[in-house]
Amino acid sequence: MNLLGKPYSQTATFKGGQLFIGDCSVSELVDKYDSPLFVIDKADFINRANSWKQAFESNLGNQAGDVYYAGKAFINSEIALWLYDLNINLDLCSGGELAVAQKAKFPSSRIEFHGNNKSESELESAVRSEVGAVVIDSFIEITRLANIALNLGKKQKVMLRITPGIDAHTHEFIRTSQEDVKFGFSLSSGDAQKAIEQVEKEPSLELIGLHCHIGSQIYNLDSYREAILRLITLFNFHQQNYQTKLQYFNLGGGFGVAYLPTDDQLDPNKTMAEIGKVFIDITAKNNLSHLKLSIEPGRAIAAPSTTTIYQVGTVKNVNLENGEQRKYISVDGGFIDNMRTALYDATYTAILANRESNAGNINSRIVGKHCESGDVIIKEISLPEDIGAKDLLAIPATGAYGRSMASNYNHMLRPAVVVVENGSAGVILRREKMEDLLNLEQKLEMSPISDKG
Ligand code: LLP
Repeated sequence: MNLLGKPYSQTATFKGGQLFIGDCSVSELVDKYDSPLFVIDKADFINRANSWKQAFESNLGNQAGDVYYAGKAFINSEIALWLYDLNINLDLCSGGELAVAQKAKFPSSRIEFHGNNKSESELESAVRSEVGAVVIDSFIEITRLANIALNLGKKQKVMLRITPGIDAHTHEFIRTSQEDVKFGFSLSSGDAQKAIEQVEKEPSLELIGLHCHIGSQIYNLDSYREAILRLITLFNFHQQNYQTKLQYFNLGGGFGVAYLPTDDQLDPNKTMAEIGKVFIDITAKNNLSHLKLSIEPGRAIAAPSTTTIYQVGTVKNVNLENGEQRKYISVDGGFIDNMRTALYDATYTAILANRESNAGNINSRIVGKHCESGDVIIKEISLPEDIGAKDLLAIPATGAYGRSMASNYNHMLRPAVVVVENGSAGVILRREKMEDLLNLEQKLEMSPISDKG
């Protein structure tokens, strides 16, 4: 049961003025593991992953393909093991993400390998390890991958990433499927058909399906319906021109989650019922009922499970031009561990986590400790005016694209990630140490780059 409601993870609750997650007091977690700290509520992650999987399977019936978790949201060997146990597959998009899955001994056949500019060595590693499918993104990649597979004596299963030209209603930087975008083969220009023709000529490639991902943080299911309708034309084209049948239609991820208590959140069952109905009907009408649908949720599984805990360092009241005051609350992390506000104008909420306060609220801004005024985590929030040094603030729904997009700007260290459940906690990603960064440095020893003249 979700005690604090959206957007908190399901076991988050208050006892004696203290925030507990997974029955662990947040204050004790910080005493033990320091801050900033990403806290994953394991029960929440597992239950949410399960709800998507169950909703998907029950609504798609025998047209259910696979659920792929989008590792870009947040991946780690431990998370890969949870997904393995849940029978959820992995969508990975770099050699690094692939290395994590390999470390966890995640079966390659359950991995889909994405990316608009995969290097030759990434492709080679994917083919050698026999990933379930490589999702091809460009004409150059068709030839590149075909040659790699040929040289390795393998026949590689592939999908084609299609750009159906849909302008999903979400932030510009997380839309991926309008025409003017770096991803995939455009449907309207005819490139998508040409790509099918080119792949079908390559003896070392086996085309098993088509893929699209229309963007992220989508609440309006019409965009998915439109994507399905548009891609079906391409499945028809393939069916009319080739003996072999395509098996999979992968609709990508993008299912919207709540960051604020007032935000919507897509319900897995309602979402999959609606998408499933459109898919089953349209495939039946087009004599394509053998097709299986797959999806790739990342954020919808990872984001709500995780809360970031920060410790307050300094506070400052600033007079605004309109005569009001704003309290700047500076915490011990910043936009290196949550870039989403700076990058996408994302909105979050926060809660005082280490004590109760009866003080009145004041208009506040939560900022980090970087030398940059854009280093803002929450632009506008009403918080108790007595918040001060050493207080803890908890920011929920930070499990997707937080730690995974973190950087080391200002030589600051990326936070640890701990998992909590039933009063126990354990680290799955340790806090960086200064040695980790300093060890990257080398003493300059110069040598000629070419032996010519
Ligand atoms: N599949 C593909 C091919 C993708 O490119 C993505 C996300 C997903 C699935 C998962 O989408 P999700 O279900 O997580 O929305 N950094 C941005 C999001 C970038 C998403 C990139 N692709 C953010 O923080 O909002």
